[in-house]
Amino acid sequence: MKIVATYNIKGGVGKTAAAVNLSHLAARDGLRVLLADLDPQAAASYLFRVRPRVKGGGTALIRGSAVLDRAVKGTDFAGLDLLPADFTFRNLDLILDATKKPTERLARLLRPLTTSYDVVFLDCPPGISLLSEAVLHAADLVLAPIIPTTLSVRTLDQLTEFIRGLDGHKPAVLAFCSMTDRRKRLHKEITQRLPAERDDVAAAAIPALSVVEQMAVRRSPVTAFAPRSAAARAYAALWDEVRARLF
Ligand SMILES: Nc1ncnc2c1ncn2[C@@H]1O[C@H](COP(=O)(O)OP(=O)(O)OP(=O)(O)O)[C@@H](O)[C@H]1O
Ligand SMILES: [Mg+2]
Repeated sequence: MKIVATYNIKGGVGKTAAAVNLSHLAARDGLRVLLADLDPQAAASYLFRVRPRVKGGGTALIRGSAVLDRAVKGTDFAGLDLLPADFTFRNLDLILDATKKPTERLARLLRPLTTSYDVVFLDCPPGISLLSEAVLHAADLVLAPIIPTTLSVRTLDQLTEFIRGLDGHKPAVLAFCSMTDRRKRLHKEITQRLPAERDDVAAAAIPALSVVEQMAVRRSPVTAFAPRSAAARAYAALWDEVRARLF
């Protein structure tokens, strides 16, 4: 079982969109997939039409895997399950902090799922917190969307530095250019240059396209409702690279 976290310190960069589309593509490839929505905003749960509620909330979830088993719901897509978010997940930092080894907690919680799933996607809230550390400790691969600007490249370097400084397990990092605006010269330039210069940046980039925003209206991955769109093809190319790094 491989664990992929869509993570960035920055908000609104396309983490949830990537988690939702890649988990759909992974399931379509015949893999057994779980998408865990760790963000109290519950955007991934909303997009998969699953009610954002976990009985007992974050406290019960972090305490034991029996709660995790019960909380997991099916989606409209074969092979794709979802652990919905819950509003109490806004306190996950505090809840983790009250456990013995907070940064190892999430990895331990997910371990029993090994026999049930081939890939687990963790859709993370923005920020850098104890939860982020627990996520980084659990993940095999951190998939980090970056908006192709100079500042976002700095954010990627900060993330890489942060991971390098972690004790014990360190996930691999794969960044990708997200919401690339073809009309902006700097976007185009960075989107071409970064993958050529760095092997931690995917060759595939996700363009800024209104069909991606339509996901919230359709409540479905763009790879499902518009599989031949440029956006869906971009996510498919990204998934090919992610899968190649995982397996
Ligand atoms: N490639 C894209 N083109 C156009 N709009 C996009 C694209 N990717 C994401 N969006 C839109 O941008 C907004 C933020 O995207 P998303 O929710 O995926 O980001 P996020 O990093 O998960 O945000 P948060 O940090 O709040 O969790 C959403 O409204 C989404 O529909
Ligand atoms: Mg999100």
